[in-house]
Parts: sequence; C-alpha cells; structure tokens
Amino acid sequence: MTTTVNMETPQFKFGSFSPKAKDFIKHSDAFINIEYGAVRSSKTINMSMRWIEYISHSPHREFLMTARTRDTLERNVITDLIKMLGNSIPIKFDKFNGKLTIGSNLIWCIGLNDEGSVDKVAGMTVGGWYADEVTRCPKSAIEMAISRCSLPDAKIFWNCNPDSPYHYIYTDYVDNTELLESGDVKVWHFLLDDNPNLTKEYKEHLKRVNSKSEVFYKRNILGEWVIAEGAIYDHFVESENTFTEYNLKDYDELILGCDYGVSTVCVFGVMGVWKNQNGNYYDLLDEWYYDAQSKGISKSDNEYLQEMKRLQDKYNIRTCYLPHDAKSLKTAAEKNHSIKMKLNTYKPDTYGDIETIQNLIATNHFRIHTSCKNSITQAQTYSWDTKAQSRGEDKPLKINDHCPDMWRGPIIGPMREGNKTAGVGVIRI
Ligand SMILES: Nc1ncnc2c1ncn2[C@@H]1O[C@H](COP(=O)(O)OP(=O)(O)O)[C@@H](O)[C@H]1O
Ligand SMILES: [Mg+2]
Repeated sequence: MTTTVNMETPQFKFGSFSPKAKDFIKHSDAFINIEYGAVRSSKTINMSMRWIEYISHSPHREFLMTARTRDTLERNVITDLIKMLGNSIPIKFDKFNGKLTIGSNLIWCIGLNDEGSVDKVAGMTVGGWYADEVTRCPKSAIEMAISRCSLPDAKIFWNCNPDSPYHYIYTDYVDNTELLESGDVKVWHFLLDDNPNLTKEYKEHLKRVNSKSEVFYKRNILGEWVIAEGAIYDHFVESENTFTEYNLKDYDELILGCDYGVSTVCVFGVMGVWKNQNGNYYDLLDEWYYDAQSKGISKSDNEYLQEMKRLQDKYNIRTCYLPHDAKSLKTAAEKNHSIKMKLNTYKPDTYGDIETIQNLIATNHFRIHTSCKNSITQAQTYSWDTKAQSRGEDKPLKINDHCPDMWRGPIIGPMREGNKTAGVGVIRI
C-alpha cells in the first residue's frame, strides 16, 4: 500500500517545545544522539522534527529509520512525520517495500525485529539513522546499523524508554564515559514536564497507573535505568482484580486463549471482552489447565482439541488465539470440522505485552474469575528472571508463566492485528 500526501492528509497540530526539546533539536550534532526518559515526554516528536531538519540539510540521499517492527515504526513515527511535513514537500510511503520518499530522499523503513531485516540493513550505506525505541532491538542489529552509517558526517538519532542498567544501550552508549567525553555520544534525559503538551490530569493519570509497580514508575515516569525484579504483576490484588458474578450477555466478544505444551503445561482460557468509552475491559471467565509433568501423562493434540471444542461450544466462542509455537495444534484444529472458531496466532513481544497487561491490571481493566485458580496464583508469582537481568535482558522466569502467557493472545492478539474493535481504548502509556 502506498500513501501519498495530498490536500486531505491531516496536518500535525504543533504545540510547544520545551527548552530541553529545543536544546535537543538544536544541538544533537554528535555521531550518536540519544533521548531517553519518561513515556510521553515528547522524545519521538522532537526526534522527528530534528530528523526532518537533518535530512533536508544533508548532502546524502539515502537514510534509515527503524523501530522494533515496521508496523510500530509506521504507527508511532511515520504517521506523524507525514502530517508534520504536510504539503510542503512531495512524500510517498510505500509500506510494502518499506520505502519512504521525502522529496529526493529515500528512507528505508525497517523493523529490526522483523525476520530478515538485518540482512537488508547489512547491504546498505546511509547518511543517517533514526531509531525509535532503540532498546527493543537486538544488539547485533544495532551494531550492524551503526556500521552502515559510514557516509561522511552521517548522524544517528535514538530514543527509548529506560531499561535495565545492564542493557547494552545503557552500558555501551548512554553511560559510556569515553564516548560522552569525546563528544561522539550526546544524551538527553526527558521527564513528563519536558512535554508542555500534556495536561496536568494526563500526567497525574500516567503517574497513578505506573505507581502500582516500582520498576515501571522508575523507568516510565522518572526515566531511570533500573533492574526489574520480583513479581511482575506486583500490583495484582486478589480482592480487587477478581470477580465472581457475571452475565455472558454483557460481553461484546469472547476469545479463547492458549499456552501450549506437550510434556509440560497446556492451558486454555476464555476471555470476555467488553467495551465502553474508557476502553476495553478483559474478564478471564474460565480456564482449563493441564500439567502433563505432574500427572505423568502427556495429552495429544486431539485430546487438546476436545477441550477447545468443549469451551467453544459452552461459550459460543468464535475467535481463538494460539501461540506461535502451537503449529501442530493449529494444523490439527484447521482439519477438524467441529472447530468453528477463527484460528489466529500472534507474535509475542514479551516486555511490551507485560507492560500492556500491567497497565490493564493497574486500571482494573483486567480481572480474573475466582474459579480460575491457576491464573490467580500465577498472576502473583510470575517473576522477573534476575539472571537474565544481569545480562541486560528483561525476561520473565520460565516458571509459573503458563497462565500469563495464555492471557496474552486474547488481549494482545487483536491489538497487534490493528483490529480496531478489539483494540479500542487501550491505554497507551
Ligand atoms: N511539540 C509538540 N506539539 C504537539 N504535540 C506534541 C509535541 N510534543 C509532543 N507532543 C504530543 O505528546 C504526546 C507524547 O509525545 P511523544 O513524542 O509520542 O512522546 P514519547 O516518544 O516520549 O513517548 C504525543 O501525543 C505527541 O503528539
Ligand atoms: Mg516515542
């Protein structure tokens, strides 16, 4: 699909730039320029302003823009960038090939976590690179992209929310005294107050939502690089986040979720989704949990299909999200005519998915029925892997993770697909 800007393309409504934002736009002249800090603190908008200015003054013609995936790049950056440019210059976005043309400049738009993307980067030589949410991309891809910025005076612009202090972006760049002193790297730390376009109420809301988890508060509000440790959903309170009474008719949609395992645990869950002007609400209504290890007997895909069918028929479910590693179950389900549900898979993004669910729990948009004992226990025991933390990776421990993984399909799957109905009103932090 190609987007061409015309008179109807809405224009970006510019507000004000804070002194720090202006300083970044004016003085980001190092080889690598990094904005990190609080969510919604204007990092992306400032960088987009700087980028427009940078490419229009650069003698080079080819550039690179990246994010975790091409979709997130389009959603979080390119849409506003196109609006910002308005009708001042011809713009074309060829989404399929990831080519953004601004005047005579060609910008390759790449998701560094998308399959095969690093090979594409390996073959290019560019005059500049803009990476949105750089911490979400693998180190190898980042190092490769840096090496491709080899044209004279090429510059790099990165923004991110803080991560672990062991993350390579922090240790190798943000906190690298040598590079900072030599001027090869410049760093700006943004806080919510550095974005004058947020209302006081919205800033309070962001603080409230994040205050339920110490690590998210420190990273997302204070913009600090801190370790994630302990329980992941530490703000899950059994008395507040569970329920007993419900009426099936109240739900706009029922979705089946699954975490698949043959010799370990397999769990199915029924998620009721209802919507109002405050966004989507998710109620886990039922779960079926089978632990092959503790029972000493594994079940076959056909036996799992019987459970899927039972839940499908009991709740009249039309949509199911299977994890991407449940290929054999998906194939078996596709061949089985009694499975009438639309079978979807979704690509997980562990940290991002956790952040979204953390947010839903904090705002009481996700609740678990009191009968779902395993989900209730695992909501409280699902923990960060401290060993992975010391390698700079935010990963959950691979124990007590089956139910939290099962919730992800019905909650995140429709959002990821850009399904407007199921994704509406998700609180973006
Ligand atoms: N100069 C500006 N003019 C208008 N809106 C702005 C400006 N700077 C930021 N915003 C708005 O503030 C919100 C957060 O900005 P964003 O750049 O996405 O933050 P971050 O990347 O730090 O999360 C967005 O809705 C964005 O459009
Ligand atoms: Mg951003």
